[in-house]
Amino acid sequence: MELVIILFLFFCLPCSLFLSLVSLISFLNRAWLKPIMIQSSMSRQGVNGPPYRFLHGNTKEINHMRNEALGTSMELLSHHQLLPRIMPHVYSWTKIHGMNFLNWYGTRPQLVITDPELVKEVLSNKEGAYLCFVFQAMIPAMIHSVEVMLQRWRDVKEVDAFQEFKLLTSEVISRTAFGSSYVEGKNVFDMLTKLGLIVNRNNFKVSSIPGLDKLWRTSDDIESDKLEQAIKEAIIELIRKREGRGGHFNGNFLQMAMVVNESLRLYPPVFNLTREVERETKLGNYLLPANMALSLPILAIHHNPLLWGEDCHLFKPERFAADHGLAKAFLPFGSGPRTCVGLNFAAAEIKIALSMILRRYRFSLSPSYVHAPFNMLTIRPKHGLQILLHPL
Ligand code: HEM
Repeated sequence: MELVIILFLFFCLPCSLFLSLVSLISFLNRAWLKPIMIQSSMSRQGVNGPPYRFLHGNTKEINHMRNEALGTSMELLSHHQLLPRIMPHVYSWTKIHGMNFLNWYGTRPQLVITDPELVKEVLSNKEGAYLCFVFQAMIPAMIHSVEVMLQRWRDVKEVDAFQEFKLLTSEVISRTAFGSSYVEGKNVFDMLTKLGLIVNRNNFKVSSIPGLDKLWRTSDDIESDKLEQAIKEAIIELIRKREGRGGHFNGNFLQMAMVVNESLRLYPPVFNLTREVERETKLGNYLLPANMALSLPILAIHHNPLLWGEDCHLFKPERFAADHGLAKAFLPFGSGPRTCVGLNFAAAEIKIALSMILRRYRFSLSPSYVHAPFNMLTIRPKHGLQILLHPL
């Protein structure tokens, strides 16, 4: 018996002590040494940012800023000044550290890039197939769906345009992509809404132990994987069904395009794109380490006075009348090989809907409207978008 205890003490104890020491060193390497080294390597290349904080990185500060910003009434900000509200950390840190800065998503470095040249380089760098909907066959369905919407509006004075357009988009996509039985299409929208809720409640939450999130999956992780897979399958099916149809849409909607573009500039629904650096990569003059996250805040680029001028927070569709030379800084649908496949679809839908509405109504904002844009996966009005309809 004594011999067993002696052998245990002799072999197992040092062995387990050694293993604990190795785990501790690896933990400290991941949670402290590596971040410090990356931070100083980026700083030598001229990229600075808020300092790395043990385990949490900058997530606590970002959460704090976001909660504070969302509690601020828009009346205190200039009307279309969305950046301090939706991405307050990007607003503050670009002012301090310049167009590109490094921040920390837990122990993970994230390079935030708002320099349009670099953004373009990132977006055009990825491999991927450029898919473009050729959608002439969808136009009758769009018109039909708008007619259904206008029927609904017949005896009402006020509508919530946010809910109405959400319904319209789901109707149009469902009808065009899934044919007469468009229940499947509606299902995609329901799944997207559920996914949005999950993403929103887990935003900037990081596991306190690096790597734990890979071993222990929460019910939200499992649910979001399932939803993502189901949405992907539905979209692939959508593309498959559209293949082979051709044609061009030649509507003359130039002025409306200017209004739509200016709205998408001030309120880009997709306000931030993300990418990951797979292996050590050169980007512009920077050398980026593997696994670095990249954030391309479209909202910050669209609201940058250095690019768009001091009046960038004003709604001025005429900016899009002539070639403003800012194509690189206008990215509501992304750019490069992964440009939005629904670009033409979305642009046609909004122009058809607007022109059909404007033929019957003039509209104005309802006094019940509260201007409170917020982000839940996309930028949207928090309390809806109530408008008053004035029949012509
Ligand atoms: C105003 C409406 C829309 C906006 C602002 C928008 C914006 C975007 C943006 C910015 C991206 C690029 C994502 C990235 O680079 O990571 C994207 C990708 C995508 N969009 Fe849209 N989108 C809109 C409507 C639609 C519609 C109606 C559809 C489908 C019918 C759609 C399907 C897609 C798909 C499948 C991708 C992924 C493309 C890829 O990764 O190759 N979008 N969208």
